[in-house]
Amino acid sequence: MFDKFSRRHFAKLAGFSALGMAATPAKSEDGDAKPVSDRHASSSFPSGFVWGTATSAYQIEGAVDEDGRGRSIWDTFAHTPGKIGDHSNADRANDHYHRYKEDVRLIKELGAKAYRFSIAWPRVFPEGTGAANPKGLDFYDRLLDELLANGIEPFATLYHWDLPQPLQDRVGGWQSSDTSRAFADYAGYVAERISDRVKNIFTVNEAGRFVNFGYGWGIDAPGLKLPPAELNQVRHHVALGHGLAVQAIRAHGRPGTKVGPAENIAACLPAIDTPANVRAAEIATRELNSGFLGVIHEGKYTDGFLEYAGAAAPKFTAGELKIISSPIDFVGLNIYAPQYYVVASDRAPGFKVLPFPASFPHMSVDWLRIGPETIYWVPRLAAKVWNLDTIYISENGTSAADALAADGSVYDLDRIMYLRNYLAQLQRATSEGVPVRGYFLWSLMDNFEWIYGFEKRFGLYRVDFDTQVRTPKLSASFYRNVIARNAAGA
Ligand code: BG6
Repeated sequence: MFDKFSRRHFAKLAGFSALGMAATPAKSEDGDAKPVSDRHASSSFPSGFVWGTATSAYQIEGAVDEDGRGRSIWDTFAHTPGKIGDHSNADRANDHYHRYKEDVRLIKELGAKAYRFSIAWPRVFPEGTGAANPKGLDFYDRLLDELLANGIEPFATLYHWDLPQPLQDRVGGWQSSDTSRAFADYAGYVAERISDRVKNIFTVNEAGRFVNFGYGWGIDAPGLKLPPAELNQVRHHVALGHGLAVQAIRAHGRPGTKVGPAENIAACLPAIDTPANVRAAEIATRELNSGFLGVIHEGKYTDGFLEYAGAAAPKFTAGELKIISSPIDFVGLNIYAPQYYVVASDRAPGFKVLPFPASFPHMSVDWLRIGPETIYWVPRLAAKVWNLDTIYISENGTSAADALAADGSVYDLDRIMYLRNYLAQLQRATSEGVPVRGYFLWSLMDNFEWIYGFEKRFGLYRVDFDTQVRTPKLSASFYRNVIARNAAGA
């Protein structure tokens, strides 16, 4: 069970509660609908709520051979025949390396005040360790200056899967704790250089995804299929890398630099909202996330996690657990789809996962099941289980078929449907006091979607990958309206 935590993999659960709907106009005392300007008052987010979009380096930058960048495991993987659905690679991708000014304008046009991007480790340390590339951070310096000049707050991610290939070759990547230490050195170096302008740093993006997909099932880079014990050790090394990076950022970054992970938390929610099921969903949240978020927050793996892993449990020391649980400032949750609808059970560990019926609706990729209430329950349960006070939704969004209409527009009403309903549920959470402080929509623009290549589109802006022309979709207008109103019912 514990090696299969992935939003894509989770088969057949049941229970689909009604879509959260945008607020309807309230009636005034004399029975008339309130004026338009008041219609969204009840669906407002807290003032100061951070609205942003997100991307990652390998998916958009291109320029893979420029300014001393080294190779990453994704360069290797994407160039291996048969790995990418449309046989593409990200050598050019969105050419963001050269077009970043235009792309910052796109963010600005949304009215977004924050942007989550990632730094390519192989640009900074082409060998993974050793000498830093003198030009390695120049691009990010230019990007940061451009963002700040446009009033957009940068949130940097240090690891969005593009491990330097030499680390994979030399020590087996995350199979070795040498990589955890190399990651910390890189994190400290970057923090020293950017924390004058970047106040929030995400360490690792979606450990749950790249460990399972990359080292367990072989469908992401580096394409390994390790047995359970080795896979759990990889997971432990990633958690250790996170903890060491937190310490390095504290040591080398400006005082006050905030740090946390961005995780595709195993999304557990009650199939039906009863006190017993909610309690069951809390237990499931804790148990099914013990391998990363749990050990980070609790400084130990749960008994259930260790029992289930049995002989395949990771090997660790008390000192490592202490490092892994170094205090953090926030938690980023990437939330796309419901994974585990649970009900209470008398049998240990106290929850039962229901199967999804075949007819459960999903968006244009099959793993992206539609469950708007996921973005209500998951932060709420995580906050309860680990006593969190600052959560960011570090990713949420959807791919869609995105046909170009005859007039050149993209009327992505399905993406708008998805966003409208998820945001209504997120507002429900903040209005109940769940400490979600911001939201980063995945993604600013269509990009290289890993094993799908350019076949799947998640962007608010359509990208023509031949001409590199960016065109706002209807969802860009929708999101601009949400941000302008600071309200879900837009
Ligand atoms: C998350 C990642 O897994 O979701 C993003 O952090 C990714 O990098 C997004 O693009 C969509 O995933 P996928 O697998 O459909 O491309």
